[in-house]
This record gives sequence, structure tokens and C-alpha cells, in this order.
Amino acid sequence: MRNRQIVTEYWEYDSLEELPREGRALVEAAIAATATAYAPYSGFHVGAAVLLADGTVVTGSNQENAAYPSGLCAERTALFSASAQKPEQAVVALAVAGKDREGRLAEASPCGACRQVLAEYETRYGNTVTVYTLLEGGRIRRLEGVKSLLPFLFGADLERQA
Ligand code: THU
Repeated sequence: MRNRQIVTEYWEYDSLEELPREGRALVEAAIAATATAYAPYSGFHVGAAVLLADGTVVTGSNQENAAYPSGLCAERTALFSASAQKPEQAVVALAVAGKDREGRLAEASPCGACRQVLAEYETRYGNTVTVYTLLEGGRIRRLEGVKSLLPFLFGADLERQA
């Protein structure tokens, strides 16, 4: 028997101003996209922005439904929209931001299902995706690659081995 550990590395920025220009623009796009959320049930407005290899930014927001599971998170709305519009362009980065009922910026971090979807695009395009999440007090977290968010993930490579 062995005890093993997984270390997750991430970077934290104190403000938007501290981010490199490209990351800052993407987080700003995610914040702006909170305005398009349809979230009458949770009151939590989430915006996401996807940066593609050709520089295109595609945004999405959470879309809720009276039949709860029929809704979709901001991250998957943005990722699926990007892929549907520009399937030949790799996903390079994803930013996500939340706003609470009072319109205050709030932390939002991709749920398990969104992490799995992100993993699919990393496999599909053969690159890691940079993930920015807005945190309390205007700080920003940056992660490199979905494995930092989803260790031991199931992917097409495992399926092929079976
Ligand atoms: N939500 C997202 O869109 N993204 C996240 O990262 C966290 C949660 C949505 C789902 C639901 O519409 C609402 O936020 C409350 O969970």
C-alpha cells in the first residue's frame, strides 16, 4: 500500500489590473456576460467567456428552467456555443464570473459536469485550457489545464484502453 498525493497548482491575482491583458479582457467579458443570465430560480447570475485559438471570444451565461435539470451552466453554454460556431478552433482559455441577487460580483467555479466538458475539449484539440475564476474581493484565480480541476478524470483515452 502506498499513500500518494496530488498537488494542484494555481495562481492568484489581487485584481483585474494585475492580470495579463488577454486574461483581463476575458474575465471582463465573463463579468459582462452575467447580464445575459436567465436565472429566475437561483438568482445567481453566471457569465463565462471562451477564448479560441483565432482570438475569437464567445460568451455564455446560465440558462435556468422550471424543470431544474433542463437548465445549463454558463460554462457549458459558452463552450458548446463556441464549438458549434467554430469547431475547427481550439479552446485556449475560459473565464467565469458570478453575480449574486444583489448584483454583487461573486465567486463561481466550474461544476463537475462543466469540468468534464472542458476535459473533452482539451482532448479534442490536444492542448490545455487556462481557466480564470473570479474570487471574493475582485481577486482572480488562474489554473492551467483541467487536470488541476478534475484529477483522475475519465476521458476518451481510457475508453480506448478498455
Ligand atoms: N452555475 C453556473 O452557471 N456556473 C457555475 O460555475 C456554478 C453554477 C449556475 C447553475 C445555476 O443556474 C446557478 O448557477 C445556481 O447554481
